Amino acid sequence: MHVEAIRWDGERLWLLDQRRLPHEVTYLPYQLSAAVAEAIAGMVVRGAPAIGIAAAYGAVLAAREAARDLAPGDGPAWLAAMAPALDVLRRARPTAVNLGWAVGLAEDQAAQGGEEVPARLERLARYLHAQDIDANRRMGELGAALLARDSVVYTHCNAGALATGGFGTALGVIRAGFAGGRISHVYAGETRPWLQGSRLTAWELAEEGIPYSLLVDGAAAHLMKTTRLDWVIVGADRVAANGDVCNKIGTYGLAVLARHHGVRFMAVLPTSTVDMSLASGHEIPIEQRAATEVTQWAGTPVAPPGAAAINPAFDVTPADLVDAIVTERGVIERPDAGGMARLFEKEFATPRAD
Ligand code: MRU
Repeated sequence: MHVEAIRWDGERLWLLDQRRLPHEVTYLPYQLSAAVAEAIAGMVVRGAPAIGIAAAYGAVLAAREAARDLAPGDGPAWLAAMAPALDVLRRARPTAVNLGWAVGLAEDQAAQGGEEVPARLERLARYLHAQDIDANRRMGELGAALLARDSVVYTHCNAGALATGGFGTALGVIRAGFAGGRISHVYAGETRPWLQGSRLTAWELAEEGIPYSLLVDGAAAHLMKTTRLDWVIVGADRVAANGDVCNKIGTYGLAVLARHHGVRFMAVLPTSTVDMSLASGHEIPIEQRAATEVTQWAGTPVAPPGAAAINPAFDVTPADLVDAIVTERGVIERPDAGGMARLFEKEFATPRAD
């Protein structure tokens, strides 16, 4: 899979402008940390792992900016010089914990001080980027092993190569599952209002030659009632210590439907998406985006003038609706607080479908 959402050439960060897909493949260059934060907030780059990686490169740019303005020596001086830029990066979007996680790791490096802070941050960003791709490949194997042959699956939003360092989380499982003969068909929900399903997931599936059908989000219940579906497979933006899964708005509804119709529900995420500091999903901040994303389409009104709208970008699926959480460290079946805690203690034995 050659789709790369993020490229780094040593000087500049290049982001594939996902707002323009699938019509245009355009990479935009970034040399200022504040512009990277704007790109994250404005959906040029999106998807929890991808925005974490973009922020890590943004922190490299922040360190270079700090080094230009003064000659910081020790850790506190570096942290003070970089703090405003890092705060802007951290606040670009509130829900995906990968963002704060990556900025926190950058702060740890900056706190060590010394002239080599920018170089150290660059090594960190490159490492997080490469590590995310490795994690996705591992999750692909682990998640695919849960699928019986010729499974039919449903995915929501885009949790593919575009949303990560590469390969994808939910779409990584789908890629690996299809390659291994375990997936025969994929249903992709269009995912209003940004249409990550139809613009991005369908694009990735088509590039790979994986058979798929798009459907409007409202058709999911009918599909589950009338068609054989084995798994709903999604990514996540933040998972709490009790296994509650926060993901793109609409995911919770899919989980309720899946349970009602006897379809299993799998969330696929790297451990960088787990927030063990939050006891449950109730504490996860839900991003509220502009009402115009609902009342307009590409700048054209699709609602009466002055229409009120709410636009929560994410929702929380309670752990008891989740059949499996797949991470690069292992699989937690029927997740709960104990299972989540064990994930951070040891490698897991890997459940399999056969
Ligand atoms: O608003 P987005 O497009 O950033 O939302 C993305 C999602 O909800 C994804 O499912 C999630 O980040 C996982 S991506 C591997």
